[in-house]
Amino acid sequence: EKGGYPDFMLKEIHEQPRVVRDTLVGRMTPAGELDIDELGLSLEELNDIDRVYVIACGTSYHAGLIAKNLIEGWARIPTEVEAASEFRYRNPIITPTTLVVAVSQSGETADTLAAIRDARIKGAKVFGITNVVGSPVARESDGVIYTKANKEIAVASTKSFIGQVVSLTLLALLLAQVKYRLTTKQARMLFRELSDTAEQIQWILDTQTEAVHEAALLCKDAQSALFVGRGMGAAISYEGALKLKEVSYLHAEAYAAGEMKHGPIALIDPGFPVIAVATKSATYDKTVSNLMECKARGAKVIVVATEGDEEINKIADCIIRVPAVRDVFSPITASVPLQLLAREVAILRGCDVDQPRNLAKSVTVE
Ligand code: M6R
Repeated sequence: EKGGYPDFMLKEIHEQPRVVRDTLVGRMTPAGELDIDELGLSLEELNDIDRVYVIACGTSYHAGLIAKNLIEGWARIPTEVEAASEFRYRNPIITPTTLVVAVSQSGETADTLAAIRDARIKGAKVFGITNVVGSPVARESDGVIYTKANKEIAVASTKSFIGQVVSLTLLALLLAQVKYRLTTKQARMLFRELSDTAEQIQWILDTQTEAVHEAALLCKDAQSALFVGRGMGAAISYEGALKLKEVSYLHAEAYAAGEMKHGPIALIDPGFPVIAVATKSATYDKTVSNLMECKARGAKVIVVATEGDEEINKIADCIIRVPAVRDVFSPITASVPLQLLAREVAILRGCDVDQPRNLAKSVTVE
């Protein structure tokens, strides 16, 4: 059942190239139009959308953070990401031109479901992204994209996260096309690069095992670890820290790297692990200078870095490489080393990676 892997978590991490491919199958017409016919919204309704809320919990919330960057960047629609448990108990600004995107692997998370119901009563259009066909989130949304992760058994989400990010990227591309902010040619090119991430994940899985192991050795006896990055790197860091906490019980926090000197840098003492997502992007140099400050205080610096980036060798104690991709697609690739790292640290600490203590696969009560 584990297909030769020692645990479901590793098996599911290795399924991710297939998840990317399956989630994208048939999504672009030969004419270069995005095809998401399950959307349940007309082109006019889509064009009228002037505010987006992404609501979700846990890992799905982190997929939402990535979606915010994509939807605002490409479609220029103001987008908020909110924990469903917060959204449902406040009074968000909802009009008939608000789109609520509910992201839930299980499709049955109690807070997410309650938030959908509330949003619909207030008149929002609701769009679901879920992995479970016919789940309550799918049934109660106006439209749905199914992630093609297939059943996820490990409690820690990995492949469903990648399916969510790919699906949200499709949604962002569609909104950008509908709003005439993207030409067919641009959409085609981006879609092709999005599809290429399947191969790029495979490359990471095939080549980075040793680097991940080395990084895990630097973390395994720590009391705490800090994940940092900027932009997409920050969003990836939040998910990396959650994954590490969940499966290895090692305390971890994530910060936007620019926030370091506003507090968290006080934590750094010799040997403290800092895990940075510092892939090539417009803010790469800024992140590197934050890492130098950590290094100067004795931190063990582990970096997820772009293949071919030699500059990082000067400050990193350990480097996990990812292929060069456009920054908007970096979450799909750069999340993978952090999933592997969390699992490896957990294994070294003797934890059950598939069934972490105190956690359930789906949270159907508040
Ligand atoms: O099924 P959902 O996506 O709604 O679940 C949300 C969270 O409970 C879930 O992502 C949780 O954080 C996982 N354990 C993450 O690995």
